[in-house]
Amino acid sequence: MASGTSRDVVGRGLRVLGRAIREQPRIFAVAVTGSVLFGLMVIASAYVVGGVVGKVVVPAVARGSVTDGALALAAAALFGISVLRVVGIFGRRLGAGYMQYRLQATYRRRVTRRYLDLPLAWHHRNATGTLLSNANSDVEAAWYPIAPLPFAVGTLVMLVGAVVSLFLTDWALALVGLAVFPALFALNVVYSRRMAPRQARAQRLRAEVSGIAHESFDGALVVKTMGREAQETARFAARAGDLRDALISVGKLRGVFDPMLETLPSLGTLAVLVVGAIRLRQGAITVTELVSVAFLFTVLAFPVRAIGWVLAELPRSVAGWDRVRRVLDATGEMPYGEVVLDPATPAPATLAFHDVHFGYEPAEAHLPGTEVLGEVTYTVPAGKTVALVGPTGAGKSTIASLAVRLVDPRTGTVTLDGVDVRELTAASLASTVALVAQVPFVFDDTVRANIALDRPGIGDEEVWAALRLAEADGFVAALPEGLDTMVGERGTSLSGGQRQRLTLARALAGRPRLLVLDDATSAVDPRVEAAILAGLRAPADGGAPASILVVAYRRATIALADEVIYVEHGRVVARGTHTDLLATVPGYADLVTAYEQAEQEREQTRTYDEVTPLTSGLEVEVDR
Ligand SMILES: Nc1ncnc2c1ncn2[C@@H]1O[C@H](COP(=O)(O)OP(=O)(O)OP(=O)(O)O)[C@@H](O)[C@H]1O
Ligand SMILES: [Mg+2]
Repeated sequence: MASGTSRDVVGRGLRVLGRAIREQPRIFAVAVTGSVLFGLMVIASAYVVGGVVGKVVVPAVARGSVTDGALALAAAALFGISVLRVVGIFGRRLGAGYMQYRLQATYRRRVTRRYLDLPLAWHHRNATGTLLSNANSDVEAAWYPIAPLPFAVGTLVMLVGAVVSLFLTDWALALVGLAVFPALFALNVVYSRRMAPRQARAQRLRAEVSGIAHESFDGALVVKTMGREAQETARFAARAGDLRDALISVGKLRGVFDPMLETLPSLGTLAVLVVGAIRLRQGAITVTELVSVAFLFTVLAFPVRAIGWVLAELPRSVAGWDRVRRVLDATGEMPYGEVVLDPATPAPATLAFHDVHFGYEPAEAHLPGTEVLGEVTYTVPAGKTVALVGPTGAGKSTIASLAVRLVDPRTGTVTLDGVDVRELTAASLASTVALVAQVPFVFDDTVRANIALDRPGIGDEEVWAALRLAEADGFVAALPEGLDTMVGERGTSLSGGQRQRLTLARALAGRPRLLVLDDATSAVDPRVEAAILAGLRAPADGGAPASILVVAYRRATIALADEVIYVEHGRVVARGTHTDLLATVPGYADLVTAYEQAEQEREQTRTYDEVTPLTSGLEVEVDR
């Protein structure tokens, strides 16, 4: 069974290599040509050295004088061989390098492109860490054996050439070769088999060590404030210790096998000299031939190891390729339709849900998927504001995702201006609706780039207009470099509320006809939140207001809505104006009142984001 599976790995590994060769046939041909040239020159050098000894050195020793002509010829031959060897090595190295890095780049691009094409439902099931390692180390691992592959192919050709030339020389010496070469090959195979799991373990531990380090630096705030420094260090030290042990075991194995791999060819040379001496006495071979063959055995040992390198990398390559292919073969893209909603009309859009049912796909296929939303029917009429209110986990964010078609309903329809969103083109959908997500995401770029996102028609003027609508123009103007200020990884140099308003401005800059705000202003001062919403409903520039679906908690915000939809456990349980619901739905009244109380308490202990992170440190000092 065990040998069956490892033979299986070799077979699958060779198929992966076959794919690589089919993708880059020309470069591979260059590399293999270089490698074969090198191999043939190695054999040739053995025969030239044999010739020099047999035809120049031995007669010279016998006669006491050197024939200049023969010596010059030998020197020229050796020089020519060296030049060709250099050319061979150059071709092989260059070809192998090109091939390996090109394949890596190609597959990195394919994998990341695929990520962006796959629907959100797929992303929900796959951790970010895994995706990163798919695009990085898995792609690398898959193409690792490419580097020594041309060398190994060239070596195989060389071995065949060596055996043939041995047979042409003398059958007895050829038999020595037939004993030594396979033994050398077998030793390499055993070595690779033993080495592969050790290397794999070391590789995995390397990833874990850097993962732990990354996590503790990333979570430095939690680590420090919770006094977890010692435990984090211990956690890291334990893994670092494991890595050390794994690497030492790699070193030990190398220590055992390397001398054996060096010794075996020397034993072969010894056997050649013993057998060769007998054959020389029998007159079957000449001195030239004996020296050539002995020399051949010493120079062959190193290239044979290239075959071992390829075999050693195959298991890792297969594992990496399997993970890469899982991404490339993943299905479930959202097909888009052909309908384009007329973008020339700046009128607000009408959003309608008709009996929508939805459930997230289970993490593993065999688990049952539970229904998150059921029988959801409501409308956001053109130009109106609808507030979505409900306890945590009720399905508000899910409704928001459906409204902008991040996910599709199981049954029922979501329509924009009466057209099923599944029939719209991607571009039409993107220009019609905008979602400001619950968790704001900011790119490590300038404020301007974060808002414009390279979309056509969004210049500085539009960016400032969007910032004004999002009540963010004040703090952006106060930034040291205004729109050109870099905001740091995930917007670390901004406060929570500033980040929220930046993402809001990003959505507004595209002038969407339907705006979906998922708790998008929760970290903003309540007065500013109400001002933002009021501004969106009646733009100061006299433009048409967008239709708005807003997930909200604050009484002041909800009160601005034309209608309130109250959801519980994925169902719409009540709808009406804020005042109606307060009077008639006890759950609703409880929720809004409880939130208000919590908010008041929070306000007494904490200030909103109007202060920058720098000064908020001072606030804490003052509070104490
Ligand atoms: N990616 C996901 N995979 C599986 N289940 C999910 C996923 N996202 C949300 N859920 C589940 O769907 C339900 C609704 O979640 P949703 O995020 O829509 O609630 P919410 O009303 O927005 O809550 P909150 O007020 O806390 O933001 C919850 O039970 C949640 O556990
Ligand atoms: Mg939510």
